[in-house]
Amino acid sequence: MPANDSLTREELVHIAIEVSKNAVAPHSCFHVGAALETDDGTIFTGCNVESDSYGLTICAERVALTKALSEGARSFNRIAIIGIQHGGDGKPLIQKDATQFSVESHSGLGPCGACRQLLWDHCRDIEVIGGTPEGEVGRVWRLAELLPAAFQIGD
Ligand code: THU
Repeated sequence: MPANDSLTREELVHIAIEVSKNAVAPHSCFHVGAALETDDGTIFTGCNVESDSYGLTICAERVALTKALSEGARSFNRIAIIGIQHGGDGKPLIQKDATQFSVESHSGLGPCGACRQLLWDHCRDIEVIGGTPEGEVGRVWRLAELLPAAFQIGD
């Protein structure tokens, strides 16, 4: 997506929701979308892509990141992430009261540990926006809060 004039956090969450519709998640039925913004406002999106081996599954954040890097982007500002649990009928299970589904997802999805490291490797201390399945801005962090004392080589 081409550069734009500063999107709101909510707009970035909505882009993540849109791309989550492309998720390939037949095993978990958990559809994740990520919208990674570069310093110049370009948005790279990603969704999760699952493997029958389970372990080879690729997270939405890593799809967005590798798309961006492979297009030459090197400087990043923010990432928005959302996850929507779908049911056996393929429809989203949207429920405000998160007693049945992931509390994590409903208060704003955070990236998994592996994605935290890869985001740190290539984006350093970006803003991480955990969006809700309803399209709201949930929790907002700096990546350094999510991955304190991160492993890194060099500056
Ligand atoms: N998933 C992501 O895409 N990002 C995360 O940060 C956590 C997990 C995906 C992987 C798998 O397809 C599904 O969510 C359930 O774990």
